[in-house]
Amino acid sequence: MTHVLVTGGAGFIGSHTVDLLLSQGHRVTVLDDLSTGLMANLKQCEGNPNFHFVKADVAEDIAETLDQVAAIVGPIDRIIHYAAQTAVPLSMDDPASDVRANVIGSVKLLEYARRNKVAKVAFASSSAVYDDDAPVPVNEKSSVRPSSPYGIDKLVVEFYLDYYARLFGLKYTALRFMNVYGPRQDSKSWYSGVISIFLDRAASNTPITIFDDGEQTRDFVYVTDVAAAVTKACLDDAAHGEIINIGTGEEVSINTLAKLAIDLAGSTSVISYAPARPGDIRRSVTTMDKARALLAFAPKVSFADGLAHTLNWVRTQL
Ligand SMILES: NC(=O)c1ccc[n+]([C@@H]2O[C@H](COP(=O)([O-])OP(=O)(O)OC[C@H]3O[C@@H](n4cnc5c(N)ncnc54)[C@H](O)[C@@H]3O)[C@@H](O)[C@H]2O)c1
Repeated sequence: MTHVLVTGGAGFIGSHTVDLLLSQGHRVTVLDDLSTGLMANLKQCEGNPNFHFVKADVAEDIAETLDQVAAIVGPIDRIIHYAAQTAVPLSMDDPASDVRANVIGSVKLLEYARRNKVAKVAFASSSAVYDDDAPVPVNEKSSVRPSSPYGIDKLVVEFYLDYYARLFGLKYTALRFMNVYGPRQDSKSWYSGVISIFLDRAASNTPITIFDDGEQTRDFVYVTDVAAAVTKACLDDAAHGEIINIGTGEEVSINTLAKLAIDLAGSTSVISYAPARPGDIRRSVTTMDKARALLAFAPKVSFADGLAHTLNWVRTQL
């Protein structure tokens, strides 16, 4: 049994990862400040003797908090680091807050990891690090040039991981996610993923707004597939020192997505178009070679099934 610390474990991707780790028989401690995460995402873990929760801000003095956790639950063997301010527009409005949560928080965690001989850290990075003009599909060697403070902060943390690995031997894998979707992604927030917003509109028969002409594309990857990739990267030392894109390799246009959402929900929602939003990239998709080779990763959930599962969840939230 491995004791895994999951920061941001009350959030969308984090809570699915906690479910997977517990189902595999591991011991899990979630550290989350509940700024966007919800205890409701973890209600299925209540009463599980292998599950522990601590409410804390990763950018505060977490060493003391984690020492207390270790004294009660046992030493932390491995870490999955999700805790972050995740809204790109908010990072543009208040870059300093973004640095605090996303860089300072990460550095405090890495400092804890190296001082306490944590075996490995898996870090949730993002495709937001890539140059918008990089040819698609992107791969891990594509040029990086983030167009938001959020993307800059993710890239900075990747450099810190490399630094900690070279100077202190800390093992790590950084995973750059494409667009993740699935149950528990907040559909009510302005900053939500497009899938949860469209399914919410379709399920409630309200208008769907598409920015630009709708022919822009994204690589949508289902949340349990992402949780599986991250869990493997954390528990397996094989991909140490590597940066790996996690997506599906398939491009879906926003027009296709809107039509699928409406069909699937049997909805009367009407689609309208609005001007493109500044900063929205035209095409986004990754190659899958590295994830396949180093993590034996292949997405298990088809887009049709993923949408259906997400719609079912969205309906429970209406
Ligand atoms: N959802 C995506 O499509 C996507 C894409 C690329 C990368 N990511 C990354 O994956 C990770 C998880 O994202 P998500 O979509 O589940 O978002 P989320 O907002 O649901 O999860 C983030 C979690 O971190 C917690 N948190 C935020 N600031 C914190 C702090 N200072 N201290 C402790 N906890 C804090 C929040 O309460 C929340 O539970 C993030 O690092 C995000 O940047 C997500």
